[in-house]
Amino acid sequence: MTYLQRLMAFTAVVGSLMLPALAQAVPAVLPVQIPDTIAQRLSACAACHGKEGRATSDGYFPRIAGKPAGYLYNQLLNFREGRRHNLVMVNFVELLPDAYLRDIAAYFAALDVPYAAPQPLPQSTDARARGETLALRGDKSRQLPACTQCHGAQLMGVQPATPGLLGLPRDYLLAELGAWRTRERHSMAPDCMAEIANRLSPEDVGAVTTWLSQQTVPAGGKPESAKTTSAKPADEPLALRCGSAVN
Ligand code: HEC
Ligand code: HEC
Repeated sequence: MTYLQRLMAFTAVVGSLMLPALAQAVPAVLPVQIPDTIAQRLSACAACHGKEGRATSDGYFPRIAGKPAGYLYNQLLNFREGRRHNLVMVNFVELLPDAYLRDIAAYFAALDVPYAAPQPLPQSTDARARGETLALRGDKSRQLPACTQCHGAQLMGVQPATPGLLGLPRDYLLAELGAWRTRERHSMAPDCMAEIANRLSPEDVGAVTTWLSQQTVPAGGKPESAKTTSAKPADEPLALRCGSAVN
């Protein structure tokens, strides 16, 4: 996206989020009736997050459709309260009240839209094996729990607030693990992902993000319920507590 396209997307989102206020303030000036539904107000998010928040499997923008509502809500709070710093996202949410953020999160969480096929990326056999081990089994010698321990056996997330790791572009996964390592991104304390990102070596980060971005999303794959999840209980060895996973 060019700078100008982003600027236009930004103006469109701010305008549509503020629609209800505008309609109240200047009812006579609006020449046509714009349907004021949450879907209409949030359609501008598609400029970056793709149609209905489904994103694409390349590029940088994360998918938001179908992620656990608690996770999406936490991220909107994180942008608003300075734990994540993307300028555009911060600008959208900084004036919005909690109840509106909850509605936005619930809207995208409920969307059940298809995933794009992964973009093929080169990866050596060794790196692929390392990525798979980290994701599915972890590495005790480095105090690394498997990603499946918290993100669910299918890596599709666990309700209410742990996101899936499949169907995301590698560049986004790389950027987020990097942001935890450099303390740009924070989750609610205790910040288990900051701990994990710092235990991974740069080679591990490359191996696991490339492996994850190459996996096909299982048919009908959705976040697991916390009650029936196969993710391991918190008293497992290597378990870390996550402040964000309870919201
Ligand atoms: C101009 C581009 C742009 C627009 C428009 C946009 N976003 Fe974003 N959004 C981003 C980027 C970039 C990120 C990733 C930020 C980062 O690196 O942490 C993001 C991240 C997010 C996240 C966190 C996702 C995750 O998996 O952690 C949520 C939730 C989100 N946006 C919601 C929205 C909503 C709701 C709208 C519409 C009101 C919207 N965004 C409009 C660019 C945009
Ligand atoms: C101890 C539990 C736990 C383990 C183990 C874990 N994660 Fe996470 N992860 C979380 C939680 C909780 C979040 C949500 C953080 C937040 O709300 O900001 C998260 C979020 C993420 C995100 C952000 C996704 C997005 O949409 O922005 C990435 C990327 C990620 N984890 C990668 C990994 C990888 C790779 C592994 C394995 C090497 C891993 N995680 C292991 C708990 C865990």
